[in-house]
Amino acid sequence: MHFDLKDVEVVIDVARQAGELVRRMQEAGLRNIKSKTSAGDLVTEADVASERLIRDALAQRYPSVGLWGEESNTMPGTEYFWLVDPIDGTTNYAFGLDYNAVNIALQHREQTLLGVTYQIHTGRVYYSLAGAGAIRRDAGGAETPLLVNDVAELRRALVATGFPYHSGTSVDNNTAEFARITTLSGSVRCLGAAALDLAHVAGGALSAFWEGWLNAWDAAPGVLFVREAGGRVTDYDGAEWTIASGPLVSSNGQPGVHDALLAAIQVARAGLPESMLRTR
Ligand code: IPD
Ligand code: CA
Ligand code: CA
Repeated sequence: MHFDLKDVEVVIDVARQAGELVRRMQEAGLRNIKSKTSAGDLVTEADVASERLIRDALAQRYPSVGLWGEESNTMPGTEYFWLVDPIDGTTNYAFGLDYNAVNIALQHREQTLLGVTYQIHTGRVYYSLAGAGAIRRDAGGAETPLLVNDVAELRRALVATGFPYHSGTSVDNNTAEFARITTLSGSVRCLGAAALDLAHVAGGALSAFWEGWLNAWDAAPGVLFVREAGGRVTDYDGAEWTIASGPLVSSNGQPGVHDALLAAIQVARAGLPESMLRTR
């Protein structure tokens, strides 16, 4: 199958429709906010409605391409499939904090062919067709190529992270890594939407982002953006990140940032009594 920039525009349009639906549902007042794996792991009726809209729209246009979405969470049997996070940053969304996105990637097995991240409250779109760079398109249509920053040392870097939903039940919950990296980096942020954190690494606002328990739909578009923007994305052992990885370190690619983060994570994790990381 062949996909090009026309397909990217189709996906942008679908992501925008889903984002608009989600925004309208928030304005109308959310009902039925439920917990999933833990009290902090939320799902709203908007997550489900957004995934349904995306599934229906993409199936109509690309009937032979399967879909693996967070809320239905069933791996399709097709070689080509969409990876969908209908709202990344649901906790922010449920509490009214405007930092969240609709995230869609197109996969050919483990390879990401295109990615779109639609920021719900700004209308800003991040997109990439593999091999053709990564772009930010503002709500008014102005476009800017994404380019990682050139900060060379961790102690000068602004980095972001996120905490897993099992943080209340295991000490392997990123607090050891967070404590160490806080002392070694310029500053650490926890913003609550991995999709946008990765877009900010690609765009140079952040020098790095790490997290241990991401799903493929959180990360696939943003990983493509970072790589297309000149950065590096690995697992905690320094192997290239794939959608099967789980742990993720993304950066501007500077050894003084990326390798320093990997080393800090190794040291922090060496003291843990148990590991909750997924191994491939
Ligand atoms: C979450 C967000 C958050 C990250 C979590 C993710 P969700 O996705 O990306 O920033 O720390 O690990 O699960 O649940 O809002 O789609
Ligand atoms: Ca997510
Ligand atoms: Ca989600």
